[in-house]
Amino acid sequence: MAATAQNAVGRVKPCRLIDLEQHTDARGSLSVLEAHRVGGFAVQRVYFLHDVAPRASRGAHGHRSLEQIFIAVHGGFTISVDDGFRRERYRLDDPGTGLYVGPMVWRDLSDFTPDAVALVLASLPYDETDYFRDYDAFLTGARDLTGAQGLNSARAHATEATP
Ligand code: TYD
Repeated sequence: MAATAQNAVGRVKPCRLIDLEQHTDARGSLSVLEAHRVGGFAVQRVYFLHDVAPRASRGAHGHRSLEQIFIAVHGGFTISVDDGFRRERYRLDDPGTGLYVGPMVWRDLSDFTPDAVALVLASLPYDETDYFRDYDAFLTGARDLTGAQGLNSARAHATEATP
């Protein structure tokens, strides 16, 4: 079962699955995501991951400000999200579903099917200074968000729950 807003990963804005508007008829399906409405941000950048090498992982970083929506427009992949306190794993394999991932969330993408195409809608232009590339630095940032909690406490409290 998907996490509720109260216990979802994401202390700035909770991660959540989004049902895309779908138009299906005898010719096939058309999926629509008006990101400013369902994601709450204006899309400034679009990129997609494809031809992912067998057993390769992507991501392994967090963002200070960036908001994103991930969609498996073809094939599937697993995305693990972690806000320094909680972790969840989502299997995305339906072009009718997106995953919103907000600021201050570490994400790992793995278990791509050979045909997977991961479409990503992003709220800001590419900016390397927005990245946390180091997990310990990310945890320090997550600690600073909530004040009193220490690095070790953040580590100790990170728990995993499969939706
Ligand atoms: P990165 O964000 O690390 O990819 P992933 O998280 O999917 O593993 O980006 C990989 C490389 O691509 C890195 O050199 C930065 C570059 N890049 C851009 O130039 N623009 C972009 O919009 C993105 C997402 C990455």
